[in-house]
Amino acid sequence: MDWGMKNRLSQLIKPDGHCMFMPIDHGYFQGPTTKLEKPGETIKPIIKYCDALFVTRGVLRSCIKPEDSKPIILRVSGGTSVVGGDLANEVLTTSIKEALRLNVAGVGLSVFVGSEYEKQTLNNLAQLVNECEDYGIPVMAVTAVGKELEKRGSRYLGLCCRIAAELGAKVVKTYWCDDGFDKVVAGCPVPVVMAGGPKVETDKEVLEFVHDGMQKGAIGINLGRNIWQNPNPVAMVKSLHAIVHKKATVKEAVEIFEDTKNKG
Ligand code: 5RP
Repeated sequence: MDWGMKNRLSQLIKPDGHCMFMPIDHGYFQGPTTKLEKPGETIKPIIKYCDALFVTRGVLRSCIKPEDSKPIILRVSGGTSVVGGDLANEVLTTSIKEALRLNVAGVGLSVFVGSEYEKQTLNNLAQLVNECEDYGIPVMAVTAVGKELEKRGSRYLGLCCRIAAELGAKVVKTYWCDDGFDKVVAGCPVPVVMAGGPKVETDKEVLEFVHDGMQKGAIGINLGRNIWQNPNPVAMVKSLHAIVHKKATVKEAVEIFEDTKNKG
């Protein structure tokens, strides 16, 4: 692997082999998502616990200070919206020239396996990898399901992750699942990072699934709504950081959560 690629990957994946990415890219198809109306304000108290930000160029330029930023994974796919025809109908929205201009550590795009736009989105990934390899930029593939959240089972996710890795993604972001997440990770030859999905019912549930996923081989998380939509975002991000980077158990993470919450 060339120096540039290694250097960028090492900005994203820490020496312990783990990572905490903070996605604030939701607006590219959801508009002003709850608690992400002002992304710069949302991330202020939590960003220090994260290793990288997953963000579009628009929010990056308008809300994030270049002098004071974590490494950036630039969201480079889009072109759809929650009120449009099909969330899967994504194209590449952002050039490699733009990624280089923004000095990003990586780029990310969604693939929609099994959708009407499977071929188009997988071709987006393949073409992006072709270009990014020339410049030493790692590509993170997001195995997206759009509104079809019920798709998130191990057979489907295993298929998506493997295809994304085969097409050249350096990291694959996918959902945790309770029916064989270890098989999803085992079938993917590149590191797997867990996405969060819509906010779950209890705080402990988040800590439990992240802990379970880490035990089953994920290298980290890319969790957004379950952190910044939590009424106690700092407590949540701190306890997740302890699981991801400090090998905390669920019990220890709950203690960190309660302690941080009580201290306000
Ligand atoms: C949106 C994304 C988000 O980065 C991803 O969904 C993670 O955020 P959350 O934990 O809120 O689901 O790729 O398409």
